[in-house]
Amino acid sequence: MKKIVVVGATGKLGTEVVEGLEADYEVIRASRSGPDLKIDAFDFESVSDVFSSIGSFDGLVSCIGTAPFKPFDELSMEDFASGLSTKCLSQLNLAKAAIPFLTENGSITLTSGIIGDEPILGGAVAAAANGALNMCVSVLAAEYAGKLRINIVSPSIIENSVEHYGMLFDGFEPTSKESIIQAYRRTISAPISGRVLCQTRSL
Ligand SMILES: NC(=O)c1ccc[n+]([C@@H]2O[C@H](COP(=O)([O-])OP(=O)(O)OC[C@H]3O[C@@H](n4cnc5c(N)ncnc54)[C@H](OP(=O)(O)O)[C@@H]3O)[C@@H](O)[C@H]2O)c1
Repeated sequence: MKKIVVVGATGKLGTEVVEGLEADYEVIRASRSGPDLKIDAFDFESVSDVFSSIGSFDGLVSCIGTAPFKPFDELSMEDFASGLSTKCLSQLNLAKAAIPFLTENGSITLTSGIIGDEPILGGAVAAAANGALNMCVSVLAAEYAGKLRINIVSPSIIENSVEHYGMLFDGFEPTSKESIIQAYRRTISAPISGRVLCQTRSL
């Protein structure tokens, strides 16, 4: 059975991804609080040490990242720096630290989101972070061609989060649990790299 590390496994997205993988993969559920593996994506040295403690694995799935939602005139540059760091740099950090431990042709799956493609009011930081992730994945895929695959899943608001975000995503078609699971499974098993799997578009 292939071994897949899911970071952010306890979140709204990660819980669904884990449920969709468990039947066919050995899933290691990771986040700052575990439950299987405690990891803090911000700290490169400690992330490397944590990956080293589990030996080689076949796939990394990152389901982490947040960004502040505020109008531009209320956003400070600190908000931008922290959102870019939490959503984008932390995931690149996980990817970079995982590479030495991935088996041949292993997979890395990062998560962006529809705000990279479709605007919502107050979403400037998330748009910047998602856009940065989406734009660099093809370069990373080219640099590691033949060695590993790296892709991004970009969901719309997911069904289990609609209540949480209120009217922010009014008019967006939510991404179902089934679509989430299929997209992440595809990045793990299909011969694709450098792709952004955009799920649903806004209506
Ligand atoms: N929810 C949606 O509708 C939606 C839609 C599109 C895209 N996305 C994207 O999907 C990702 C996850 O969103 P979510 O809604 O599932 O968030 P969430 O419910 O807040 O879950 C975040 C998960 O990441 C873990 N985590 C947070 N910081 C971490 C760190 N520094 N190191 C390791 N693990 C960390 C959390 O556990 P601990 O606190 O224990 O670390 C938790 O498991 C984000 O990038 C988000 O933008 C979400």
